[in-house]
Amino acid sequence: MAGLREDFLWGASTSPHQVEGNNVNADWWALENAPDSPLPDRSGDANDSYHRYAQDMGLLAEAGLNSYRFGFEWARIEPAEGQFSLAERDHYRRMVDTALELGLKPVVTLQHFTLPRWFAESGGWKRPDAAELFARYIEFVAPALRDVEWVCTINEPNMLAVFASVQDTVMQMMGALDADDPEQKAKMAAALGHVSPDQELGEILAQVHRRAVDTVRRTTNAKVGWTVAQQAFTPTPGNEDVFERVHRTWEGFYLEAARGDDFVGVQAYTSQPVEADGPVPHPAHPDNTLTGWAYRPDALGIALRRAWDEAGGIPLLVTENGIATDDDTRRIAYTAEALGHLEEAVADGIDVRGYLHWSALDNYEWGRWAPTFGLIAVDRETFVRTPKPSLAWLGACARRGGLK
Ligand code: BGC
Repeated sequence: MAGLREDFLWGASTSPHQVEGNNVNADWWALENAPDSPLPDRSGDANDSYHRYAQDMGLLAEAGLNSYRFGFEWARIEPAEGQFSLAERDHYRRMVDTALELGLKPVVTLQHFTLPRWFAESGGWKRPDAAELFARYIEFVAPALRDVEWVCTINEPNMLAVFASVQDTVMQMMGALDADDPEQKAKMAAALGHVSPDQELGEILAQVHRRAVDTVRRTTNAKVGWTVAQQAFTPTPGNEDVFERVHRTWEGFYLEAARGDDFVGVQAYTSQPVEADGPVPHPAHPDNTLTGWAYRPDALGIALRRAWDEAGGIPLLVTENGIATDDDTRRIAYTAEALGHLEEAVADGIDVRGYLHWSALDNYEWGRWAPTFGLIAVDRETFVRTPKPSLAWLGACARRGGLK
């Protein structure tokens, strides 16, 4: 049975806005801080990882991991249109150097949900010159990507297309969302269940990505791809056609758009059945996670197999997989099962290059602090980091080179 590669990446992921703190020039910061913001929590200082990244990376390396996925924040690097900050670029270069010194292969995301305010407020991705502006940002940061082997252009373009089509509903629902209120959670899930992603935006993002891939290839030696969120949809009997349509518009289009890239990032947390009306919301269930999602560690296997078929057999990198829970034993159980599915996929000949757990730290979950995905807990007043047993557990898998 084929095992994992010698150079398999074992790591954890974060995104800038969720951990850095004070990302004041980003559209999300403006949204969180608007007087009528629908979001219950602000990111504020977040985990102060902007200053404490070396400590975060040190904990991952010490545990035995060999990779860290983090992002460059466009809103910091180009806080006003055409005004690029050399100091911020140096900051991210120092992060790359720190990772390399610690023996962590950096996987760098160039855009993870947040946009510079000036860009978002002037039309965002629908600006006619969006691809050019994103490429110009990449050209500027390229020197900081020296010796970086893995670069992700846009994180979850498909979720951006989903959000765009339901922005108002999602925002209102998030405002009402209380982690302990199953009724609110069910309402939000139901709203999301009937969404059809903004296809126009999806096509724009695919073009932006193509240009970004060319730019990364021209200016760096990195492998480049984008990351796709997969809900691991499954058809209910008689609804195969609806399933095909939902899968295609939510995910398939984005996996196919990855053909020809050096890899595609696979991001999976849960699975949802599709019935006549579309994806079935996660019904309230004692096993549901703190985000209200069904406990489905098998989602990773489904996602890997689909990505392999639909992205045309390019290498796969698990860039996110994890669970929002306050019970770390459950995190370990979930991850062990997910990794079992990954190992089966590899045994079946699927080329998987690494597993990066979401997330390194309990962080700002886009409007809320309650859903904790981290391998490391963070005290948000003292910023003291406390590794959870799951970190040592994943580190032990990394040292062994597999589950067993
Ligand atoms: C995103 C992360 C997010 C995670 C859990 C992914 O959609 O890339 O930023 O925190 O899922 O919701």
